[in-house]
Amino acid sequence: MRHLLSTADLSQAEAIQILDVADQMAATQKREIKKLPTLRGRTVVNLFYEDSTRTRISFEAAAKRLSADVINFSAKGSSVSKGESLKDTALTLKAMGADAVVVRHSVSGAPHRLAHAGWIDGTIVNAGDGTHEHPTQALLDAYTLRQRLVPDAIGADLKGKRVAIVGDVLHSRVARSNVTLLNTLGAEVVLVTPPTLLPVGIDHWPCTTSYDLDDVVNGGHGDLDAVMMLRVQRERMHDAFFPSAREYSRRYGLDARRMNRLPEGALVMHPGPMNRGLEITAEAADSPRSTIVEQVANGVAVRMAVLYLLLSGQAEGKDA
Ligand code: CP
Repeated sequence: MRHLLSTADLSQAEAIQILDVADQMAATQKREIKKLPTLRGRTVVNLFYEDSTRTRISFEAAAKRLSADVINFSAKGSSVSKGESLKDTALTLKAMGADAVVVRHSVSGAPHRLAHAGWIDGTIVNAGDGTHEHPTQALLDAYTLRQRLVPDAIGADLKGKRVAIVGDVLHSRVARSNVTLLNTLGAEVVLVTPPTLLPVGIDHWPCTTSYDLDDVVNGGHGDLDAVMMLRVQRERMHDAFFPSAREYSRRYGLDARRMNRLPEGALVMHPGPMNRGLEITAEAADSPRSTIVEQVANGVAVRMAVLYLLLSGQAEGKDA
């Protein structure tokens, strides 16, 4: 049994295989009939303990377009609110014969626990756990970067590409997954963040860091191919990490002035949901450089690829 728990579990060949299969899946989504019979008879459970729009909807669309039966479970309105544990919920899903469980949880490591505690037989896909990882977000971001920046995308890595990831790195599972995967794919990453939002142990991450967004935008770390803005995660902040929203935007927000100093062709990315006016202005989010809506569309193809490879047993993935 194999799972997708972390981008750190993917070799370069495995990551490229997922991106290549996603390309094939994306091609099928341009047809009049989008549905493929590939996962007919399989059951995919979306187990969401935390709110989600993009990830939950796109996993549901991905599974349905592969003809899987889909069960959506949201902690709100379930017996979790009566105190039922993750273990007992998992045993219930096992009894229902789930082939794959796509799990989002506020606790870092919850998908890993589900995968290895023996409570469930199915494949576990991490759809975001606490501040730890969001591997399918990183895969769809890499897919978007490759599609936009690499002319002959199939089979290609991201060698020579440079990406700045900007903002609330401390609370971001997207940043961690992206740094690891972009490094695996050969890209260079610079993290730009206030000192208060830099995680402990950052020295061991395969990237450089800066506190100065203007310097990075101006090419101080080399010409950028993309700027990935991170959401300021106020719901995870129990301290004052910056003096004011205005001060944060002034130092770390992407506005038209900064965006226009980026090299021609550099992309503006954001995983969503956005705090418009805080980490990114509407002008930057809605500009022709922005791939934000495209990232959401690509999420369906990438998640189709992940479910297909995991459930049809064709990937060479490691068991995390
Ligand atoms: N990017 C992302 O994970 O968005 P959702 O929280 O809406 O799923």
